[in-house]
Amino acid sequence: MHSLVIFGASGDLTSRKLIPALYNLFRKNRLPKPLNIVGFSRTKMSGSDWRNKLAGTTKQFAAKAFAQDTWDNFAAQVHYFAGDIAQSESFTALDAFLKTLENGTDAASPAPCNRLFYLSTAPMFYGQASEQLGQAGMSVESPGNSRRIVIEKPFGTNLETAQVLNDTVQRNFNESQIYRIDHYLGKETVNNILILRFANTIFEPIWNRNYIGSIQITANEEVMIGHRAGYYESAGVLRDMFQNHLLQILTFAAMEPPARFDAKCVRDEKVKVLQSIQSMTEDEVLVNSLRGQYRSYRDEPGVAANSQTATYGALRLFVNNWRWNGVPIFLRSGKAMSCRTTQIVINFRQPPHRMFANDKASMLPLPGNRLVLQLQPAEGIQIHFETKIPDTDMQMRSSQLNFNFSDRLSGELPDSYERLLLDALQGDASLFARSDEVEAAWRIIDPIQKCWDSGRMLDPEFYEKGSLGPAHADRWMESFANHWFDLCPVIG
Ligand code: BG6
Repeated sequence: MHSLVIFGASGDLTSRKLIPALYNLFRKNRLPKPLNIVGFSRTKMSGSDWRNKLAGTTKQFAAKAFAQDTWDNFAAQVHYFAGDIAQSESFTALDAFLKTLENGTDAASPAPCNRLFYLSTAPMFYGQASEQLGQAGMSVESPGNSRRIVIEKPFGTNLETAQVLNDTVQRNFNESQIYRIDHYLGKETVNNILILRFANTIFEPIWNRNYIGSIQITANEEVMIGHRAGYYESAGVLRDMFQNHLLQILTFAAMEPPARFDAKCVRDEKVKVLQSIQSMTEDEVLVNSLRGQYRSYRDEPGVAANSQTATYGALRLFVNNWRWNGVPIFLRSGKAMSCRTTQIVINFRQPPHRMFANDKASMLPLPGNRLVLQLQPAEGIQIHFETKIPDTDMQMRSSQLNFNFSDRLSGELPDSYERLLLDALQGDASLFARSDEVEAAWRIIDPIQKCWDSGRMLDPEFYEKGSLGPAHADRWMESFANHWFDLCPVIG
């Protein structure tokens, strides 16, 4: 028996992501059985009100996968409980409600039941909700009765608040019960980085400073801020995309092979990567970072007329260890960009000796070999390399080998929440962030954010919506003898 309680049941994430993911898992027969799904929020409504509302939103967000009869079967296990996180009585009543669902009327001999508490509320309630669960005795485990808590991002707003939140949650749950979610880690293409690196022999020998000259990790989006100014104005791109998603992708790309694919070994290696990135001084931040703001950002509802919030950022980082010493790793992310692209570009070094006459004559650097891992919306891998132009003397041009996930797949890749919800229900924390990992990421971001907020940094440079970001971004890259690899993916 399993129970999943979603705190923040009336929120956007629940209807857009969590319930469609659970519905899809049910449809694929992957959910543990029996399972009670309980929505918890302050709004007074009945179970059937909530189910009806969710039927509409799931139809919209699970789109083609939606079938009324499958939904009806799924919805039979969906319940609603109106409660207030601020009130301890709500938690004793929730506990009783869960016991009734889990045991029916046979309260005398309760069946073993694993419970998963999912905090999808406003972040200000994460600490309080875990405290209330602890005080109500709802975090105590016994054999056959696991108690786990999933915490959505953002996990704190800087190192200090993340440490306070870690302390609060860890007073009530053991670290092994805590699942800090970063939905990028549930993406199939992100997980494929590990398969590519550690299930093949041909990449790993060259995956180091001897062969790789630089790495670029990009997460560009076309979307703008819309109605999210309340959150975004104080978050900005560093907290919103870098502290979590971009650094998580970086750890997958840069980590050492773990001894085993399990939560401890994988996360130990990821933490080592983050610990190898030195915190920057203010002077270093001025050189190694860049920020921008899309021009119409200040016209968005709720945005201050003189807002300095960055909607675009770029960083140059170094992972100071044997594998990566001296290899610049460029991270960038922006909203309102020309196209949505999340990708990793591995730029290999130039060949050590140039012997073909034409190539020698040009004296220009070769384009270099490049491995492009397209994470989304294009989902695939490209290798860029030089080939001979037929029927010439030894002239060459760049060619590509392409792999697309879609060639081997009917339908779409599953949403990241499917994978993560299933892992949390099954007790596999490999793809969730550990407390030391979150704190190590904040240690990298905090000094950069601090410098950005200080008077020393230039104001964010404006860029046009639908562009490739601030004009200075290209010159900034050139100052490091590098250039961005920009490609709006053609998805076919
Ligand atoms: C969220 C950020 O964590 O990730 C958003 O808060 C961002 O600002 C989103 O748009 C991007 O996620 P995805 O899966 O669409 O790339």
